Amino acid sequence: MDIKGKHYCSIWLNDNERTVGVLDQKLLPHKIKKLTLKTWKEVVSAISDMTVRGAPLIGVAGACGLALATNEEVGRKYLIGVAEKLCETRPTAINLRWAVNRELEAILEVSKNKRKKVAWKEARNILRSELLMSGNIGKQAAKIIFSLYEELGRSVGILTHCNAGWLATVDWGTATAGIYVAYNQGVPVHVYADETRPRLQGAMTAWELSSHGVPVELIADNAAGFLMKNGLVDMVIVGADRIASNGDTANKIGTYMKALAAKDNGIPFYVAAPSSTFDWNLEKGELIPIEERDGVEVRQVKGLTDSGQMETVWITEPGQLVRNPAFDVTPSKLITAFITDKGIFAPEEIYKLKELSDD
Ligand code: MRU
Repeated sequence: MDIKGKHYCSIWLNDNERTVGVLDQKLLPHKIKKLTLKTWKEVVSAISDMTVRGAPLIGVAGACGLALATNEEVGRKYLIGVAEKLCETRPTAINLRWAVNRELEAILEVSKNKRKKVAWKEARNILRSELLMSGNIGKQAAKIIFSLYEELGRSVGILTHCNAGWLATVDWGTATAGIYVAYNQGVPVHVYADETRPRLQGAMTAWELSSHGVPVELIADNAAGFLMKNGLVDMVIVGADRIASNGDTANKIGTYMKALAAKDNGIPFYVAAPSSTFDWNLEKGELIPIEERDGVEVRQVKGLTDSGQMETVWITEPGQLVRNPAFDVTPSKLITAFITDKGIFAPEEIYKLKELSDD
């Protein structure tokens, strides 16, 4: 997407296809800093410390990590080891495993002298396919926003949680893709972006959308129920990190509470996700591994001082016990429909998406 007239993607292959470019998301929305990742170990660190983040993006980054590994060595055992290390970085988003496995399979299918070339080609394909999937999700979601606009005859109030925008994908986003498409087509929308403690991904969502001109207000997570109750929210749309085959959906911590509030207020709750987010091998949400992150994320707040310095401050006494689950699972019964690159499916219909994905 464009920021101040300049087009950005969240990840790119540098021209010679020997290195990978990313934005340092730890600094956003305050500073735009491009980084060059030169080794698979740098990719492991970037995913672990959330320099790159968001389910589809960490998948693409993982595939690029394997491509970087082929710059050093192309032996089977070595590459399988690297793939394991990449997958271990974050447990919840299935996109990471999906992309790393796809990349590994493509590389190992060919003889050693072709592996490096195939690795970079496949990394490029995976990046492009995520891009296409986001574009398709945008078209599907925009139809829903447009029909709500026709029904209501006024601006559509949309609540979103976390950052499922272009920063979390390659471009366009998942939850935000339809908002961009609808807005570009002249459909009046008003977005409420939950701030999403503790990592405040909502501030990135608000930055993304407002940079594009989309009307958006950042809200404290706890304000969402109040807004729903007071008629300001016509639909909720969130992304996903892993969707079990029964439709139970893991997404950023706090999503479940939003889904409960939406249900209580009769507001449709949509999950926008590419096919790569569906884990058909997992029967139900309870089986999704939930990442627990360092409690320091809850004990600290990071931001920009008036003099333009990034600073971190403590909000607790040293030694304060903390629990920091990074994701929760929303049961499929609270979800109105899944907006995917292959169409829109109610939870009881997602077997149709599986059939399409198997083809
Ligand atoms: O922990 P993060 O920032 O990597 O979280 C992942 C996400 O961005 C969200 O859960 C998002 O809603 C789904 S990914 C488009």
